[in-house]
Amino acid sequence: MEFTVKSGDPEKQRTACIVMGVFEPRRLSPGAERLDEISGGYISKLIRRGDLEGRIGQTLLLHDVPNTLCDRVLLVGCGRERDLGDSQYRKIVAIAVNTLNEKGAMEAVCYLAELNVKHHDITWKIRQAVETAQSTLYRFDQMKSKKDTERRPLRKLVFSVPSRRELTDGEQALQVGLAIAQGVELTKNLGNMPANICTPTYLADQARELAKQYKSITVDVLETADIEKLGMGSFLSVARGSIQPPKLITVEYNGDKKQGKPVVLVGKGVTFDSGGISIKPSDKMDEMKYDMCGAASVLGTLTAIAEMRLPINVVGVIPATENMPSGSATKPGDIITSMSGQTIEILNTDAEGRLILCDALTYSERYDPVAVIDIATLTGACVVALGKHAIGLLSNHSPLAHDLLNAGKTSGDRAWEMPLWDEYQEQLKSNFADMANIGGREGGTITAACFLSRFTKKLHWAHLDIAGTAWLSGDKKGATGRPVPLLTQYLMDRCTEKTGG
Ligand code: BES
Ligand code: MN
Ligand code: ZN
Repeated sequence: MEFTVKSGDPEKQRTACIVMGVFEPRRLSPGAERLDEISGGYISKLIRRGDLEGRIGQTLLLHDVPNTLCDRVLLVGCGRERDLGDSQYRKIVAIAVNTLNEKGAMEAVCYLAELNVKHHDITWKIRQAVETAQSTLYRFDQMKSKKDTERRPLRKLVFSVPSRRELTDGEQALQVGLAIAQGVELTKNLGNMPANICTPTYLADQARELAKQYKSITVDVLETADIEKLGMGSFLSVARGSIQPPKLITVEYNGDKKQGKPVVLVGKGVTFDSGGISIKPSDKMDEMKYDMCGAASVLGTLTAIAEMRLPINVVGVIPATENMPSGSATKPGDIITSMSGQTIEILNTDAEGRLILCDALTYSERYDPVAVIDIATLTGACVVALGKHAIGLLSNHSPLAHDLLNAGKTSGDRAWEMPLWDEYQEQLKSNFADMANIGGREGGTITAACFLSRFTKKLHWAHLDIAGTAWLSGDKKGATGRPVPLLTQYLMDRCTEKTGG
């Protein structure tokens, strides 16, 4: 879809539709007020009759409003004015975009970014509106033989800003929003792709596509023999059960000409997690195609920052494999040696994420990174603890944790910190190896992170558990693209910090 910004009075807009907010109870926003005056009280009359209370979720579509140049006016309920915060704003924009798309208004001028949203400026409002609009219209229909497309889909959305002074900021916000939306879309597409197509080889090919698309990106793919040479016994123990060959994908984005130390993003790329010999129950097992969403979010974030040409260096490291049961699969009780030299007793082959991540984390040391962040659909326990709204965050470096939490708040892609205390490490004790790969039922998200922390002692490291946030279940089943907005924001913040801006 095409987006632009513009400033000007609503009655002068020659367009298919104008979008205006109405607050609860029956209170017109400044823009709607203006249209009301011009039209001789046309809007307030309808509202007094009870056509629109102003609750979030309500809409009213008006045709041929007197003295305007537009075909239609879409009034959107915004709830109480003083309650208008981040999530309300996103909901309102989503409802407006959906309505426009369904009602055949192929273009519209939207005044919603002019509303006051608590703690936010026009830059934030436009950026969020673009991301929300793109997310709302997203469909994964690549696999449908007949696509149910709208007859007259929304093609162009113009955001009105209060004055010409805001035009430049608005334009920039559009570009940032579009870059993030593009990263989110790639992440969703990869996540939603079924596991018979989205294999480790497919992920490697997708990474190579990025290198073709952007001059700033280079890709290297290591094969089984290379991974063996590196001594990644832990990663390979997961791959053993599958016919699909594993891949260690590295993606380097070079945006900082001064060759500054990079940030490394490590993404869990289990393209299907059956559990292995410790096989999962069959209910909802299809959703384990989403077990590569960490990897997908790394590729999505690299896309977003390459689009923006951020002046920073970032390396993506993706261990990609299936986790399958077979005659060659790792068995409970097997002991393997990780790249770090530490030995691991595998008590449950379904705790495979940490086994591929630990070697990838050891590998990331070679980039001499300023920070390493791993992103993984790691534990069912995280879904129990935080539900589907917050990402779990655990870190060995509090400034890094702080920056990530803040980036989550700014981008609306929020994380919540959990403790990485030494006391929890005891749960990983093994009688036969340096550690076990599971820590029992209690604090499952924390003991998983404790396991990883044993491989990141030399690093400033943070772990994002996205098991609850990477996809939605039920009739809204689909990847969310999280945490691309959080990660992109974090990298953007690092750039402004550096230049003292
Ligand atoms: N990919 C799963 C985690 C997961 C489960 C994410 C359900 C989202 C929904 C991971 O590999 C896994 O199986 N973890 C186990 C760990 C356990 C065996 C210690 C889990 O959470 O049950
Ligand atoms: Mn598993
Ligand atoms: Zn898994």
